[in-house]
Amino acid sequence: MVAGLGAAIGGLLGGAGGGYFLSPLFRKKEESWIDIGRAADFLPGVPTKVEYIERRRDAWVTTERRSSAWVLTSNGQDFIVFDPRCTHLGCPYRWSADKKLFLCPCHNAVFNVDGQVVSGPPPRPLDRYAVKVVGGRLSILPQAQAATA
Ligand code: FES
Repeated sequence: MVAGLGAAIGGLLGGAGGGYFLSPLFRKKEESWIDIGRAADFLPGVPTKVEYIERRRDAWVTTERRSSAWVLTSNGQDFIVFDPRCTHLGCPYRWSADKKLFLCPCHNAVFNVDGQVVSGPPPRPLDRYAVKVVGGRLSILPQAQAATA
């Protein structure tokens, strides 16, 4: 009887303790949408670089890192957001207003305003982030996705 009671208590404590320590491993990852500003502040036809702080919580640890993205809209309502890393080897690229092209200085890649490869070694167009507009604010989900078209 004592042994049975001890086993029950041990199982209860072990289960609770185990659950406490293991629960972060089984917790569903939350989508971390990040607000990057008022949608109306992005000028149509002009790629705009935005910088933001990305906070990631993994189990008990929260980390922060500075990041950026390129925002493009043709009409102020529909938005495309590009990952800021070149799809060749990940260097940051920039927008050339004169040439109306994205230029990556590492190995001379050139992308057009839609993120398509014009020349150079990149194997695919610029990667994109999911984007949404809620209440006039633009939010992104900064997980690179290959362009579909
Ligand atoms: S990393 Fe951009 S061209 Fe190589």
